This record gives sequence, structure tokens and C-alpha cells, in this order.
Amino acid sequence: MYQLRTPVLVINFKNYANLQGKGSLELAKSAQHAAKLTNSNIVVAPPTPCLYFVSKSVDIPILAQHADAEKGEASTGKFPIFSLRANGAVGTILNHSERRLDMQTLSNSIQQLRELGLLSLVCTQDNLSAKEVAKFHPDAIAIEPPELIGTGRAVSKVSPAIVEEGVKSVKSVDPSIKVLCGAGITSADDVRAAVLLGAEGVLVASAVAKAESPREKIIELARSMLNY
Ligand code: G3P
Repeated sequence: MYQLRTPVLVINFKNYANLQGKGSLELAKSAQHAAKLTNSNIVVAPPTPCLYFVSKSVDIPILAQHADAEKGEASTGKFPIFSLRANGAVGTILNHSERRLDMQTLSNSIQQLRELGLLSLVCTQDNLSAKEVAKFHPDAIAIEPPELIGTGRAVSKVSPAIVEEGVKSVKSVDPSIKVLCGAGITSADDVRAAVLLGAEGVLVASAVAKAESPREKIIELARSMLNY
């Protein structure tokens, strides 16, 4: 069973054009370098086609950005949960605002991941939905208000109550679930604010993908999670 170590910086590569193929590999290597340099927990979520070769080149944990609760092997164009491990992933993000799932599918997916000893990191839009999802007992929940994603306006600064309440609500249902936040996280200060609100980590995409030096940006964000 893979256990998520916190505080954690999760970098979602999404489908940024510069993070496909070789670009995915380079960013994952930068993340690995930053993890070693800062002695911090960094997890990366490359695009699905890059998972296997990235996993063969770095030793930091790899998550998929989505996987399907599809049990049949004779399925076409799906990325089944049962194929995650063979493709180098320790688990998957589920229900990202760019890939929402209905509650039944989400619950089935979390259950399948648990049975296979794989990590479930479920995104939710706010503290209320986080509490609902907590009832399915995923390993981790990330609170990400969709309207802040990609804006550079950090959830931890713009909507601190959603993070603070989210942590309390989730822990009231199941204290073992790790609670992260994301959306607009750009600077060390944004990460620090998140940690001070009780978040056990952050999800970041555009700040790293579009940084002049992604490696330096990852080091900056990773360092700021520590010592609280
Ligand atoms: O999965 C992380 C994400 O949705 C946050 O995106 O660009 O606001 O860091 P971004």
C-alpha cells in the first residue's frame, strides 16, 4: 500500500505542450532534484502517455492525472485503474475540475484503488464537497476552487476559509485523510499560507509549467512547505 508522505508538493503537468514527451521527463528530473536538495516530498503527475518512461527515469512517486474505473481488458481508449502500477504510477488524481466524475464512479474508483493498494487523490471544488467525498475515504483530498485555477490568485490567500474549513470538515469525517489545496498557488508565500491554514500539501500546475526556470520554482515551493 503506497502511503502519501506529507507535507507534499504535487505537480500536475496537465497537458502543457512543453511538458509532453521529453519535456515531461525533464520536469520530473527537476522535481527529483528539488526533492533531494530540499529533503521534501514531491509527487509528479505527467500526462498519461508519459507515465511509464518517466517512472523508469526518476525515483519520486508518480501519479496519473486520471484513471478509469474500467475493469474489462477488452476496452479501447480507456486508462483503467488496474493498469496504473504496470505503467509506473503509485495511484491517481481523480475528479479534477477538468475531469469531473459522478459520485458513483468516484466511489467505485476509490474502492478499486484501495483494493489494489494504490493512492487516491481526489479533487473537490470546496469545503462542502470535500466533506461529501471524505465519506468515500480516499487517501487524500485536494480542495481546488475551479474559478482560481490557472489565475495566479492563490486559494490560500483569496479563499482561506475554504481551506481552513475544508481541513476541519474532512478530518471530522476521517482524520486519516490528507488534505491538500490547490488553484493559483504561485509563490513560496502562497504555499506557506496554505500550510498555516492546516493544508498538508499543495497541488500546483501553471506556476511550474510556465516558470522561466521550472527547477528553481519547484525548489522555491518545496522549501516553503518545510519547518511549520
Ligand atoms: O491540479 C492543479 C491545478 O488544477 C492547479 O492549477 O495552474 O492554478 O496551479 P494551477
